Amino acid sequence: DTHDPTSLRTPIVAVLGHVDHGKTSLLDKIRGSAVIEGEAGAITQHIGATAVPLDIISSIAGDLVDPDDFDLPGLLFIDTPGHHSFTTLRSRGGALADIAILVVDVNDGFQPQTLEALDILKRSQTPFIVAANKIDTVPGWDPNEDAPINDTYESQSDRVRQRLDESLYEIIGNLSDEGFSADLYWRVQNFQRNVGVVPVSAMTGEGVPDLLTVMMGLSQRYMKEEMEIDVSGPGVGTVLEVKEEKGFGKTVDIVLYDGTIKEDDTIVVGGQNDPIVTEVRALLQPRPLAEIRTESRFENVDEVGAAAGIKVAAPELGDAMAGAPVRVVRDRDLDEVIEEVQAE
Ligand code: GTP
Ligand code: MG
Repeated sequence: DTHDPTSLRTPIVAVLGHVDHGKTSLLDKIRGSAVIEGEAGAITQHIGATAVPLDIISSIAGDLVDPDDFDLPGLLFIDTPGHHSFTTLRSRGGALADIAILVVDVNDGFQPQTLEALDILKRSQTPFIVAANKIDTVPGWDPNEDAPINDTYESQSDRVRQRLDESLYEIIGNLSDEGFSADLYWRVQNFQRNVGVVPVSAMTGEGVPDLLTVMMGLSQRYMKEEMEIDVSGPGVGTVLEVKEEKGFGKTVDIVLYDGTIKEDDTIVVGGQNDPIVTEVRALLQPRPLAEIRTESRFENVDEVGAAAGIKVAAPELGDAMAGAPVRVVRDRDLDEVIEEVQAE
């Protein structure tokens, strides 16, 4: 493994928004795989994590992103469900995130879970941008596959442009009602102070190059300014899911947001009763661009660094809980780590 302890950690990007507004489709478009096909029913039931390496981002963003301008290894996207009954999963995803994308259907506008997601972002003070999705459904839209927004906007008729503008200004108005100063992203100078709105289509890929460019820029600046993270220390993470895995028994899917985790590390995991102290038997990594939730072919790795989605196989995980903390002990005092896990 070529993990460089001096590099910036992979930023965690939560994708939030109302049910059916296109969160999973947008990630699907980005990773170019068909996760949506594997979903039970139409709604996303669980949080999934998807790592997108910098070179893939820059190839999608085309001329807009030059990989030489960035130190970041890529972005780790966390999908969340929009259905109203999944408040805990949304807040878990939102709380884990360094930055976020709030997806809003451009025709449907602000809806209850849009407002709920905004509250989560407000409370956790997470910088975010708004993806005004489904621009291809504006009546009369002439699609230009995967084009930057400026190019496709210029090629639309006056009537279509006007319709899109109206919808976008309504979203900007809604954001303003919630206390956020927002504007179309190309007019925003400081993305930490003002919310940028990026028109996109998860279906045609229009605006997706812009979205990724803004996310890279925002995370690069944010990670440099706000975080001096020791990416080589003992790992810290959160359990997303507890799952039975053939040949491994109960395993936990975690998002590691700080430090590293290694095979044979002693870890402490929050349990239904007491914290669980156990030893890592195997670290199972989904292939890059794969979805941890649906991917069955894992790669065995010796070590991973933050941020990453990783499946941990270890004995005694039967009582582990989704949302619980995970901490690597390594050279630390075990009792102290147990106390930390209990306190969280
Ligand atoms: P939940 O996970 O249930 O909250 O929904 P979601 O936000 O992940 O929405 P999803 O990606 O499942 O998309 C919902 C529906 O909208 C699907 O039928 C998609 O095909 C459709 N859709 C998503 N994005 C677009 C878009 O940009 N254009 C069009 N025309 N349809 C879209
Ligand atoms: Mg979804």
